[in-house]
Amino acid sequence: MRRAGVFSMWFDPVKDARLPGDIEPPRSATRSERTENILLTGSTGFLGAFLLDELLDQTDATVHCLVRPSSSQPSAQRVRDNLSAYGRWRPDHDSRIRVVDGDIEKPRLGLAPDVHDELAERVDLVVHSAAAINHVLPYPLLKKTNVTATHEVIRFACQRRAMRIHFMSSTAACVGRARDRVLLYPEERVHASPATLVSAYGLSKWVAERSLQNAARLGVPVTIIRGGDMAGDSRSGIGKTTDLFHLFLRLFVELGERPEPFSGQVNIVPVDFAARMAVFVGGMTDGETFKVVNLVHRQPMPVDGLFEFIRSRGYPSEPVPLGAWVDHCQAFIRKHYSKKQAFVLKYLFREESDGRLFQWYFRPYRFVTDRLSEAIAASGTACPPLDETLWSTYFDRLVDIGYLRPGVEPV
Ligand SMILES: NC(=O)c1ccc[n+]([C@@H]2O[C@H](COP(=O)([O-])OP(=O)(O)OC[C@H]3O[C@@H](n4cnc5c(N)ncnc54)[C@H](OP(=O)(O)O)[C@@H]3O)[C@@H](O)[C@H]2O)c1
Repeated sequence: MRRAGVFSMWFDPVKDARLPGDIEPPRSATRSERTENILLTGSTGFLGAFLLDELLDQTDATVHCLVRPSSSQPSAQRVRDNLSAYGRWRPDHDSRIRVVDGDIEKPRLGLAPDVHDELAERVDLVVHSAAAINHVLPYPLLKKTNVTATHEVIRFACQRRAMRIHFMSSTAACVGRARDRVLLYPEERVHASPATLVSAYGLSKWVAERSLQNAARLGVPVTIIRGGDMAGDSRSGIGKTTDLFHLFLRLFVELGERPEPFSGQVNIVPVDFAARMAVFVGGMTDGETFKVVNLVHRQPMPVDGLFEFIRSRGYPSEPVPLGAWVDHCQAFIRKHYSKKQAFVLKYLFREESDGRLFQWYFRPYRFVTDRLSEAIAASGTACPPLDETLWSTYFDRLVDIGYLRPGVEPV
């Protein structure tokens, strides 16, 4: 049977991680004690909205949001609408948000020359969150947005005095295949070889991480936040219903069946907690030039626990053999999901030599979280447990917006 790898003879990720020759070490060191101006990419995204909210909350800085112009709406309105959509818009923040048009895939980040030069002079910290999140596209199609653009961010940060870079990466950049073994994922380094990575998206993030490690060697202080799967805001339940987590959740609920045996685990992090920690960790000054933090849930739950919760909400949850469950899922997806969603899920349900691809999503990965634990202790912020209260918040919201039908009260 075919072994699905993310590698190909047509590209060389290790070579792609080398910085272009024209990126030179910054002329002077960073003003690490000051954060007056932050450049944020990806503020029109899901995590981006919460990062912007937290940057405004945890710092006094002006946040310059680099936004890709759209023909339908002015960029400033897009940022504001995105914050509102996730329940994070606050009028008192307005004066500290400055929106600038740009495109991370373009030279000089697509900024107008005068804006570019002004920001190059003023920015202390770049929070790079913009990316193409796609679990199906091959590496060459992700490279421009996730790799070349990261080089452009590094080039920007190396001009004049060094800027700090906080990079939103993903656990996909380190999650490898190891058949039945459970691998341990450290925080302190980027893996030497990406050969076992599960996805091309993860590979593109790995190349970006390695590129940033090279930038740190040039004297640019880098913090990499390796985020796990992010679920909705733990306070309001508002999330991004088009993401993988929601697609699976809907399938689990609407199908009325659960696979047996299926001994995976659910590891999600509420987005509000993730953003708070990402900003907090980045602000912890410990003199390190290169730091990686695994931002996952430290107490994941067994997938059985989720099916039990679904049953307790009044949805049927009949046990069926895994093979039959997969067939039923595929039929359901064809009938009820959009073409784009069906394409993603069909890809994830395909069979490979070491099981179905989607099973990797629920593997019991073990991430080292020492740095995260330190940050949690220092910030005094607890991560919401994956318990009935949190799931109820999510389900109430999903039922309210019509994404899930209400369950039937158990008799
Ligand atoms: N969401 C998660 O579960 C999760 C988990 C782990 C890590 N992460 C990482 O966290 C970061 C943010 O994720 P997210 O959930 O906010 O993603 P998202 O909702 O898909 O948003 C992506 C953002 O990137 C921007 N972008 C893409 N290409 C761009 C370009 N060429 N120029 C300028 N902006 C561009 C998008 O702008 P437009 O609005 O113009 O498209 C959007 O603001 C990503 O780096 C992702 O890898 C996310």
